[in-house]
This record gives sequence, C-alpha cells and structure tokens, in this order.
Amino acid sequence: MARERTFALIKPYGVQRGLIGEILSRFEAKGLKIVAMKTLVVSEDLAKSYYSEHIGKPFFEPLIHYITSGPSVAMVLEGDEAVKVVRKMMGKTSPTEADPGTIRGDFGLQIGRNIIHGSDSLTSAEREISLFFEANEIVDFERIDEQWLYGE
Ligand SMILES: Nc1ncnc2c1ncn2[C@@H]1O[C@H](COP(=O)(O)OP(=O)(O)OP(=O)(O)O)[C@@H](O)[C@H]1O
Ligand SMILES: [Mg+2]
Repeated sequence: MARERTFALIKPYGVQRGLIGEILSRFEAKGLKIVAMKTLVVSEDLAKSYYSEHIGKPFFEPLIHYITSGPSVAMVLEGDEAVKVVRKMMGKTSPTEADPGTIRGDFGLQIGRNIIHGSDSLTSAEREISLFFEANEIVDFERIDEQWLYGE
C-alpha cells in the first residue's frame, strides 16, 4: 500500500452549515493526517483552473458561481491510499445517489450543492494541491498513533 497525499475542499454550503468539524473529525478518526489546511474564498480564476475539465458542460457556469460564492476550506490529507479512501468516504457525486454513511450521502440533496470535493486520482491530487497550496504550506510530521495505525 502506498502512502499518498490527496486534496479535499469543503465547499461553501458545507462551511455555511457548520460541517467543517464533522468532516474533519471523520478524516482524523479514519487515520488520515491533515498536513495542510486553510479557509479561503475561491477566486473565479482559481475556480476555472480547478474545474477546467468541465468547461463547456451545462453545469459549468453554476458550478463556478457556487464554488466562488463564499468561504471554502481546502486541505491536504495524507495516508495509505488516501485518494481512494477520501473518495469512498465522500460517496457518489450526487447526494441522492451517495450511500448513507458517506459525507455526501449524509449531508445534502442537490448535485449542484454537494458539500465536498476530493481528488479523483493521484495526478489530479498533485495538480489540485499545487493550485491551492505553496510547497511550504504543507507540513511533514508524524502522528503519535502512526506505529499503531500502520504497524511499523
Ligand atoms: N449533472 C450535473 N449537474 C449539476 N452539477 C453537476 C453535475 N455533474 C457534476 N456536477 C457538479 O460538478 C462537480 C464536479 O463534477 P465531477 O464529475 O468532477 O464530480 P466529482 O469528481 O464527484 O465532484 P468534485 O470534482 O466536486 O469532487 C460536482 O461535485 C457537482 O457539484
Ligand atoms: Mg471531480
């Protein structure tokens, strides 16, 4: 199993609903390490780079409007197979399809207002981390429970 870093963003609706702590505690309890985090209002330029794969789709403009509409919380999470683990914890894109127990499944109803993003591959993770963070904002540290978590 490979130790990975992935990117996650609690979107404006998640922040407005006071779900930052709930979401972070799920990641922490899972064993993922929060190696970078900040609150920011995503600018239109950043939003367009971040969601460039969706340019031309019918939901592109509403998506950019939503993601720039208020503060978001961006983070880098580290752990074994972090990309896959975070996607599974988030659930399917549409909150009505996402299983109960997942973040999207437990909070929200609208696909255009899902409350969290997570990178869908290691390549996307690297791209998104570098869009949102400078290298010196990401902190290398060891959690005291790591020997127990990984049996090292
Ligand atoms: N059919 C749709 N109608 C409205 N909004 C959509 C639709 N499909 C996707 N979106 C919005 O665009 C975002 C990006 O879509 P994508 O296909 O990348 O899904 P995702 O990878 O699960 O989500 P994200 O990239 O936000 O983590 C979704 O989170 C959702 O808010
Ligand atoms: Mg995506």
